[in-house]
Amino acid sequence: MKNDTMKIQVSRNGPYIVTGGVPLMVMEISNDDEGYCRSWRKVQEYPLQEQYALCRCGHSKNKPFCDGTHAKIRFDGTETAGDEPYLQSPAIIRGSELELADYEGLCAHARFCLRAGGIWDLTRRSDIPDARDTAIDEACNCPSGRLVLRDRKTGETIEPVLERSVVVIENPARGEHGPLWVRGGVPVVSADGKPYTVRNRVTLCGCGRSRNKPFCDGSHVEK
Ligand code: FES
Repeated sequence: MKNDTMKIQVSRNGPYIVTGGVPLMVMEISNDDEGYCRSWRKVQEYPLQEQYALCRCGHSKNKPFCDGTHAKIRFDGTETAGDEPYLQSPAIIRGSELELADYEGLCAHARFCLRAGGIWDLTRRSDIPDARDTAIDEACNCPSGRLVLRDRKTGETIEPVLERSVVVIENPARGEHGPLWVRGGVPVVSADGKPYTVRNRVTLCGCGRSRNKPFCDGSHVEK
């Protein structure tokens, strides 16, 4: 049953205030033998708390939690995602079985989409069962919801079943940390009180550098 009190409130130039007892855990991306991102592995689960504050500036010494550093560094957390116009105009790739909506600006660089020729080519070849299945696997592992598949026969969107939770993403093979993966449709509300579109998968910026705050735009991988 859904807990309807779960919410993530963006605070102005400060942390994400998570309320309603949202489970919090750390998950690592595991690679296959060829180095492709392949699966998720839970490496830590925090004790359940009714409310907690997650660092949004990237400078806390107690990550993933806020330790107040954002005030000392005068973090500018201005939200720039606006009314999310990119959700209205994804690139569309069609195969005979699947249709892929690609919201490129939401890419969190988890890189599950690159295996076996990449999800774009797999979608075009989705008349082949193996290609179809791999495309679905790749889309369902995309944490940010950049990649969303639709079954062209049924017209239904193909979404993974995700426990309502926040996951701190780690990619040890590449030495990358972040972003925060919000799963299962936990609502995110701007500092101005405006609710963002509720989606099954979104990633929130945890490094403070995204140009699409509060969402991740992959800036954490830029050196
Ligand atoms: S948002 Fe508070 S320390 Fe980063």
